[in-house]
Amino acid sequence: MRLDKFVSDALGVTRSEARDMIRRGGFTADGAPLGSPAAHVDCQEIRYKGEKISAPDKIYIMMNKPAGVLSATEDKTQRTVLDLLPERYRRYGLFPAGRLDKDTEGFLLLTNDGALAHKVLSPKKKVGKTYVARLSRELTAEKIYVLENGVDIGGYVTRPCQVELLDPLTAKITVVEGKFHQVKKMFLAVDNHVEALRRVSFAGLELDGSLAPGEFRELCTKELGDILRTIQ
Ligand code: URA
Repeated sequence: MRLDKFVSDALGVTRSEARDMIRRGGFTADGAPLGSPAAHVDCQEIRYKGEKISAPDKIYIMMNKPAGVLSATEDKTQRTVLDLLPERYRRYGLFPAGRLDKDTEGFLLLTNDGALAHKVLSPKKKVGKTYVARLSRELTAEKIYVLENGVDIGGYVTRPCQVELLDPLTAKITVVEGKFHQVKKMFLAVDNHVEALRRVSFAGLELDGSLAPGEFRELCTKELGDILRTIQ
């Protein structure tokens, strides 16, 4: 990680404030002075004016993303999922692990753990994501069969997935990829239309049913362990 990012995370200052501090001096890595904001720090012990500083802990947040909010860290005009978090979370460098469409609700993982995010999003890990889709037309057994065996969503054939009919107009679908608008495109491929979409499970974890749209909570140790097992 770059030193200016490390200092910004560890001391809760902006990147440009971190760069100014670094240029003024006082930072060391394993005792050696550090003067460049672009210096790479990894496992060294970083001190500022003799005091040890460390990056804040890793944070993992389960959010029930509401419709109408962007899965992004910032946007000039629209509200993002990070705007839903209180001030105390601002210094951690959180970002959404993957994206839900603006009009999609449900389980979104927010973290500052880049390595974990990379793994849960890697196609190789085949991490399951389950959605409940409200449809415009009744879904027949034939269409379920077609969906489950892979459909062409525009130059890409989806991998096998599971579809369960909850009622004639509502389906639960579990996919292991995360292509852009994937679930909506899959139903379009079988002449249907998703009217509303909600992610109810991600990487082996169910969305906490007590979280209303817009609410969130940190994962407990067991839940994090469950995710880590999924991506091993
Ligand atoms: N598939 C979609 O079409 N949209 C989402 O937000 C997530 C999966």
